[in-house]
Amino acid sequence: MPDINQFTITQAVKDSFRTEPGSRFEKLLHGLIDHLHDYTREMNLTHEEWMGVLNFLYDCGQISTPERHEYILLSDVLGFSALVDMINTRGGATEGSNLGPFYLDNAPRMKLGADLGDGREGAKVLVHGKVTDILHKPLPGAVVDTWQADSSGTYPIQEQEHGQDKYDLRGIFTTDDEGRYYYTTVLPKPYTVPYDGPVGKLLRAGDRHAWRAAHLHYIVRAPGMRSITTEVFFENAEYIDADAVFGVRNSLVAKVKPAKDIEGLGFELDGKPDALIEYDFVLAPQG
Ligand SMILES: [Fe+2]
Repeated sequence: MPDINQFTITQAVKDSFRTEPGSRFEKLLHGLIDHLHDYTREMNLTHEEWMGVLNFLYDCGQISTPERHEYILLSDVLGFSALVDMINTRGGATEGSNLGPFYLDNAPRMKLGADLGDGREGAKVLVHGKVTDILHKPLPGAVVDTWQADSSGTYPIQEQEHGQDKYDLRGIFTTDDEGRYYYTTVLPKPYTVPYDGPVGKLLRAGDRHAWRAAHLHYIVRAPGMRSITTEVFFENAEYIDADAVFGVRNSLVAKVKPAKDIEGLGFELDGKPDALIEYDFVLAPQG
């Protein structure tokens, strides 16, 4: 029987799994065991600290529901979600950012120029741009799926008990022959991630706030291209340098400009905007 000590236990645990040599599963599992054991040795972890970790994870599970996934929130505030987005962004393509908890996969199809704001309070803004490939060739027929908070930082899906339609402030647009998309909406405001659970406790323990910089969410797809899930932020906006989930990248920050000379753009719009935002999405080929 091998004498297992605090240094040989790592290999013994890895050997206890009969994994396919060289498989991705084996690599992921062994890497996890290596790093967790190294961390435990380096920190000289006490029993109390280890139980604290396990109880924290238990609490995350206890507060989770089909609508609230506390582990995603934990991943977000620790920067893991952002790191996975960064690692999976293809060269030349628009950088990825958080999906967030409010995506619905069957948003209404909208015609270009529609008004997502639909009479809501707030600054009216024209959002427009192109979807192109990495050589800047426009992609007609690309799908731009968007959703956002309102001018008080609330998603209509959170306010269904107050009579809001969960499909409000979201829509799916298809780019025109020049790869353009355009619509009007209200400028969203910042909001907080949920901080009434264990992740909120962690934020408070580290003297951190729960605010997200205001943003527009997007999933952009086109045939033969790799889809992107991302967010567009606004220059000089509140929390732009301190987003609670590390979603902001310089390349995802757009200017909000006064809406002058919009007639020159030639868009037929349902709403009358006070401001405009231009943002182009770039998709890399699949594979
Ligand atoms: Fe969001």
